Amino acid sequence: MCGIVAYVGPKDAAPILLEGLQRLEYRGYDSAGVVVSNKGLKVRKVKGRVADLAKVVPVRFKGGLGIGHTRWATHGVPSDVNAHPHLSADERIAVVHNGIIENAGELRAKLEADGVVFASETDTEVLAHLIAAAVDENESLEEAVRKTLKSIVGTYGIAVIDAERPGEVVVARNGSPIVLGIGEKEMFAASDVAALVRYTRQVVHLEDGELAVLKADGFHTFASDARETAKEPLTVDWDAGHYDTGGYEHYLLKEISEQPETMTRTMSGRLDERFHVAHLGGLNMDARETRGFRRVKIIGCGSAYYSGQIGAQLIEELARIPSDAEPASEFRYRNPVVDPDTLYVAISQSGETYDTLAAVQELKRKGGRVIGIVNAVGSAIAREVDGGIYLHAGPEVSVASTKAFTSTSVAFALLALHLGRVRDLSPADGRRIVEGLRKLPGQIEQILGQGERIAELAKKYAPHPSMMFVGRVRGYPVAREGAQKLKEISYVHAEAYPASELKHGPLALIGPDMPTVAIVPDDELLDKNLTTLGEIRARGGQVLMVGHREPDAKLADDVIVIPKNEIELDPILLTIPLQLFAYHAAVALGRDVDKPRNLAKSVTVE
Ligand code: F6R
Repeated sequence: MCGIVAYVGPKDAAPILLEGLQRLEYRGYDSAGVVVSNKGLKVRKVKGRVADLAKVVPVRFKGGLGIGHTRWATHGVPSDVNAHPHLSADERIAVVHNGIIENAGELRAKLEADGVVFASETDTEVLAHLIAAAVDENESLEEAVRKTLKSIVGTYGIAVIDAERPGEVVVARNGSPIVLGIGEKEMFAASDVAALVRYTRQVVHLEDGELAVLKADGFHTFASDARETAKEPLTVDWDAGHYDTGGYEHYLLKEISEQPETMTRTMSGRLDERFHVAHLGGLNMDARETRGFRRVKIIGCGSAYYSGQIGAQLIEELARIPSDAEPASEFRYRNPVVDPDTLYVAISQSGETYDTLAAVQELKRKGGRVIGIVNAVGSAIAREVDGGIYLHAGPEVSVASTKAFTSTSVAFALLALHLGRVRDLSPADGRRIVEGLRKLPGQIEQILGQGERIAELAKKYAPHPSMMFVGRVRGYPVAREGAQKLKEISYVHAEAYPASELKHGPLALIGPDMPTVAIVPDDELLDKNLTTLGEIRARGGQVLMVGHREPDAKLADDVIVIPKNEIELDPILLTIPLQLFAYHAAVALGRDVDKPRNLAKSVTVE
């Protein structure tokens, strides 16, 4: 949600800020702005994309200190005025902010009563006025920011500059990420390492409640009570090349196509052919502890939650431990009973999703044992959990999740194998799963090879206003993820139902205008699924079937046949054609595939 970039050093800040904002645009893209300090603050901000901002930033926009922002509107419509940075009335202080200030209304009313005139409708602007009032009382910028934040209720990642201190930026974090980048006699900060890796791979993640002062020759960090904190820099594995489209038309297609490699990386060094087990050292748990859990509870949001449903299925089948998945947002608000015999698993690609992080914090507070399945190394959720599995899928830039989804499902297969083999999963079944996992990358290559045919099918079905997705048991989370991908990037309405539920209501929707994508793996439920197809066709509904073989009778209008793996692992492969289908439908409909409307890549607000 929203992106922040900050720079202080000997170079001109503006090109660095614009380049960084471009890299962060996937996090929010309804307006953008920059401010540099050079004998006063110079601001440019526009409604629209970073490319629109670049057009209004003059070549002579000089100054070695600056902050920039790309916005995803929360308070106030997207507009030039509501775009960040926001300035104090005397134009001395500039602030960019990610997150939501919950008591902004109250603070605004007080400031207005004192005669402050607001320029925008945003919650952020209160920060600029409050910090300006504090520096007017001769506080240093860091003290002014620290004291101001004490009156703030809500979440923030902020960067602040003061026209009268042209050599420093102050940043702070509470619930919305801020990462410092350490350069050679220059310092950077951003809300995501994506904006930093072109300049440095030495980074420092701020914790909630922490602040930092950046100067060209270094930085120091401190807590909200002004105590200095000690930070160890981390080296980021990802470089700028990971953030390019690599010759693909869209990031989404690149990320779909990368899945053979990304999932190989998720498995790398973790499969043991001798004992047919998975090595997951990051869980920080010995065999005795691992055996002790009586339930597994998985939490995540959106597609992460659907991959959690695949995970729950895998764990129940392979480890025979009762498991279920729940949206993290629901979980955290229902005052959950936290059980010492349950293993809690939090899933997040970004590691920053606020609802998932808040659910983890709630679990930790109640003494729950939580592990994470996370892509972004060093992210807030990764730091909060007791242990976990990193996906190593590389940065996912397109807003719609694809490679992180399949890598998470693979991570769950590893976890299920691990939990299963310390319990009753036989070596023979362990071997079957290890061999199945090894086959996945090659089988994904084969599915990707059907891209052109899937593009034709997507073109055929995309003009329909609505589509139904159905699947049974293992196929149901696949159907949910397929519907999610289609609706978020093509804006075609899509509903997912368990195939068994169709006749309990939604069958009424079926007719010539509502085609169905049916997930029909070759498993013990094949006949039941084929019966459902017959029911749909009898009501005049078209069927696009995704499965392992053509049905004998004419039960589907179109069939995408994919390679067969072990039944427990088939859901991972069944997802791939649905990703391609959604991608090509979105392209056929002329959508902005990588940046769908109203969405942002990582949702760091409630
Ligand atoms: C859908 C999608 C979202 C995310 C969700 C959680 O394509 O990308 O539904 O899966 O917002 O994000 P993370 O995994 O970063 O916690």
